[in-house]
Amino acid sequence: MSRPLSLPDVARGLGTRLIGTAIYLFPRITSTMDAAYRLAQVGAPEGVVVLAEEQTAGRGRFQRAWVSPPGHNLYLSIILRPPAEALRRVNMACSLAVVDTVQKVAGLTPRVKWPNDVRLGGKKVCGILIEGRWEDPQTGWVVAGIGLNVNATFIGTPLADIATSLAQEVGHPLDRGEVLRRLLQALDSRYQQALDRFPLWKEWNHYLEGLGKPVAVQWGGDTVEGMAQGVTPDGDLVVLQDNGTTVVLPAGEVTTRVSAHSA
Ligand code: BTN
Repeated sequence: MSRPLSLPDVARGLGTRLIGTAIYLFPRITSTMDAAYRLAQVGAPEGVVVLAEEQTAGRGRFQRAWVSPPGHNLYLSIILRPPAEALRRVNMACSLAVVDTVQKVAGLTPRVKWPNDVRLGGKKVCGILIEGRWEDPQTGWVVAGIGLNVNATFIGTPLADIATSLAQEVGHPLDRGEVLRRLLQALDSRYQQALDRFPLWKEWNHYLEGLGKPVAVQWGGDTVEGMAQGVTPDGDLVVLQDNGTTVVLPAGEVTTRVSAHSA
């Protein structure tokens, strides 16, 4: 079990412009997404962070459960209110912030599995869930949920082949407060870059897994098969299909296909 998270520790030296100007820490909650939604609906400003030591109904994409035991990892949701034109870049900003954080605290360079997994050695170390209400640009909001495996051990569990943690990769536990502070700092600067139309997609292409490789993408009940070519400035995946046409996918689930020519 890691040391409990302490807000004064995290706030000390945080120095962010926007992210973490208010932080709520729950010992136990259904999902930080639920609490962040409630706060956003009553007008909480952007930058508010909801953290939990444990989630009893943590969730991921496609209504999957995000198992969230206490004491090892980070579970947080951040309220954002970007202008409509920047909405699509929030996902890239969040995953790049996680990449920055992992590089700083663990000295390792992760890869991004489109659209929102951060992976080390081919195993998931972080999942990102972006949800929101943004029909009305005046009152719209986004909640970015981040689950980062810091000190959990997946060895010997049913998730051993697909999940890992920072501690598992570096071989020793990390200070979760320090990881959190770095993450909030990275989110602060990456979100600002998203607002400033900084070309996040170029860096994203650099970290993306599966570029130039055969992929299958499940999207809207269909499966698109082809070669992943990279992402657009909004982070959509460009796939050159086997029939020679190119499709641009805003969302979906990618699996790498085994090529007939690969060893
Ligand atoms: C995914 O990979 O499918 C996304 C997982 C997102 C998990 C985080 S943990 C904090 C926040 N609260 C939740 O219930 N989900 C997100």
